[in-house]
Amino acid sequence: MTCVLRWGLMAVSSLLLSSITHAASQLNQVYQLSTDNTQLVYTVGEDGRLIFRYYGPRLSNTDQFAPWRSYNRPDCQREANYEAYPSFGLGYVNEPALSVINANGSLITELVFDNYVQQSSEGVIHGIFTLRDRVAAVCVQLHVEAYQQEDVMAQWVTIANESKGEVSLQRFYSSFLNFRANNYYLTHFYGTWAGEMNRVEETLEPGIKVVESKKGVRTTQSENPSFILSLDHPAQENSGHCIGGALAWSGNYKLSFEVDERDYLSVLAGINPFLAAYKLNKGEQFQTPKFLFTYSANGQGTISRNFHDWARRYGLHAGMKERPILLNSWEGAYFNFDEQVLTDMMDDAAQMGVELFVLDDGWFGNKYPRNSDKMGLGDWQVNAKKLPRGLQYLIDYATSKGLKFGIWIEPEMVNPKSELAEKHPEWIVQSPGREKITMRNQLLLDLTNPEVQEFVWGVVDKLLTAHPDIYYIKWDANRHVEQVGSQYLSSNEQTHFWVDYIRGLYEVYDRIRAKYPDVMIQACASGGGRVDYGSLPYHDEFWTSDNSDALQRVYMQYVTNLIYPPIATASHVSATPNHQTGSVTPIKFRFDVAMSGRLGLELQPKDIPAGEMAFAREAITNYKNHVRELVTKGDLYRLISPYACTNNHAANMLVSKDKRKAVLFAYCTGFNRRGIRPTVHLQGLDPAKVYRITEINKVSKRKAFWGDGNCYDGAYLQQVGVELQIARQYDSAVFLLEEVK
Ligand code: DGJ
Repeated sequence: MTCVLRWGLMAVSSLLLSSITHAASQLNQVYQLSTDNTQLVYTVGEDGRLIFRYYGPRLSNTDQFAPWRSYNRPDCQREANYEAYPSFGLGYVNEPALSVINANGSLITELVFDNYVQQSSEGVIHGIFTLRDRVAAVCVQLHVEAYQQEDVMAQWVTIANESKGEVSLQRFYSSFLNFRANNYYLTHFYGTWAGEMNRVEETLEPGIKVVESKKGVRTTQSENPSFILSLDHPAQENSGHCIGGALAWSGNYKLSFEVDERDYLSVLAGINPFLAAYKLNKGEQFQTPKFLFTYSANGQGTISRNFHDWARRYGLHAGMKERPILLNSWEGAYFNFDEQVLTDMMDDAAQMGVELFVLDDGWFGNKYPRNSDKMGLGDWQVNAKKLPRGLQYLIDYATSKGLKFGIWIEPEMVNPKSELAEKHPEWIVQSPGREKITMRNQLLLDLTNPEVQEFVWGVVDKLLTAHPDIYYIKWDANRHVEQVGSQYLSSNEQTHFWVDYIRGLYEVYDRIRAKYPDVMIQACASGGGRVDYGSLPYHDEFWTSDNSDALQRVYMQYVTNLIYPPIATASHVSATPNHQTGSVTPIKFRFDVAMSGRLGLELQPKDIPAGEMAFAREAITNYKNHVRELVTKGDLYRLISPYACTNNHAANMLVSKDKRKAVLFAYCTGFNRRGIRPTVHLQGLDPAKVYRITEINKVSKRKAFWGDGNCYDGAYLQQVGVELQIARQYDSAVFLLEEVK
């Protein structure tokens, strides 16, 4: 049931705010939104502005926040105060959350509080602050959602033009937060193709630090729209105050961290305003994406678990559902396959215990056959030469082997050498009169155009209508925007491209999800180019990276799982030597790493040496019987960071919510000299429960822990720990912990 509470003035339609008066009681009203352990507090100042007062651990008494004067100048010598959603114009000189060119040309926005409405549904409190410009008829609604159990908040705004003319939004961030600490440490995530999600922590100095993307598409490959901010000290795993943030948007974004002259830190998150001015005609409104954030008073471990809980419940498609183990054809066959190659792969996959076969790139195009990345993209007809009996033959074959079937598409893109490009040159993103810049020999389709949206929807709908047994789609996107230009948008709307492209994409996805709620979809964009909370509601998982090297994945998955949950982290065992790095790694190490995420295979099964097949089968069985459930629903505890370890080790574990089961993963990331053995202090267990610890995925009789097979209580395992005998590079161990009564 939804209950609606109202405070303050009722909504007043399109009135000029000079006529709004605030009752004395409202001026000192404290508005607080709380989760089980955190709290966000606002008050209304003397001049009617809504002031940001606090975000941190939950307090028992918030009445103490009133009274408060408000004087909107961070440079003034009075108490520092920052508006809940600072706008440019009257006094605010930092980077504003909102800047507008009003209908009369005025550059000033001055938002004052109008009313507050709060709604509750199960587990979520949703507060809406209505703010209105004191002079211009512009109305902003600041939304805050407080997810109780997960300790996650979401913020976004809607901006409405209630004036008679046109207004132009210049900046329209989703969220503003403000902090005061002695020092600020920002962890953010950078990378590139085959090297996504590296982490760097830096001290924030006075001035502005920006993390952003201007790539339009595939925006998370070089910087991810998420961060961990640690107050006073560098981020620790289990202690210290820190804030995690993640923007739910798959297009251009900007995260701005401004330490001003008063040493306060203002954090803005939202759509990147770079060349993105957005026009609102009379009566139109603009909604920003959600910014998600969470607070921990005990280190970044809690930040990750909060985000994972939230993602599984609210942010990821089918977040609690166990995923099938898959074999993807890409690294095993690339473009070089025919029916026989694929059915052989299916035979082997089925024998290994794999549950889903995914046919990657190369299955389409006839006039321009897709035998390489040079042609055929956009022509979504089955290649009759390679697959004369069509897709249904392959799907039926998979079914006969007990496998589900999945398929790769890249419907946002086109090769210039394609029937689609010949037929619809006007659908291509380009700037008239300039040479088209291809990337991986391809161009981008203009999703601002409803005809293109219809086409992209049609690619999926036709496939799934013709083949209702398709269980899984791998949705790829292998380039970003390098030469912006829409032939659909008018000349004075070209700056809308960045926003309208992503809105167009999301509209297509909304249609797909409405008609096909049960189809699994993977977000792939040359690997990890679309790993963001905007895309996750449409997807069941993401392809973490085209780098499938197990050692590299230890680092990359460690960082990815700081913000995103392991169940969404597609993690595949690939061939050795690895196709990206050339490293030669034991099959055990490759499985032990891949099993800490959504397990899959990315190889030609025939290349697995006969002597290793039995191990591969056993590891797959172990995953199904013991590990998958924990990867899907468990709490992640990082025990040894591969980044922070003075020796060459890494370890983490997943613990069931009822603390009756856990799995521990440990890896050697390099050689360790004689005598160096890591002792891992387990976490997340019930100190009073007794657990049997059993090593799985064993390749020899040698015990990686001398107590293997014995029982210990949680207190022992956490305080005394588990001493591991893994020392050489690529040594690894996986242990199950099961409660014994
Ligand atoms: C890039 C993806 O990341 C790969 O996994 C593969 O699907 C190729 N594209 C296919 O072109």
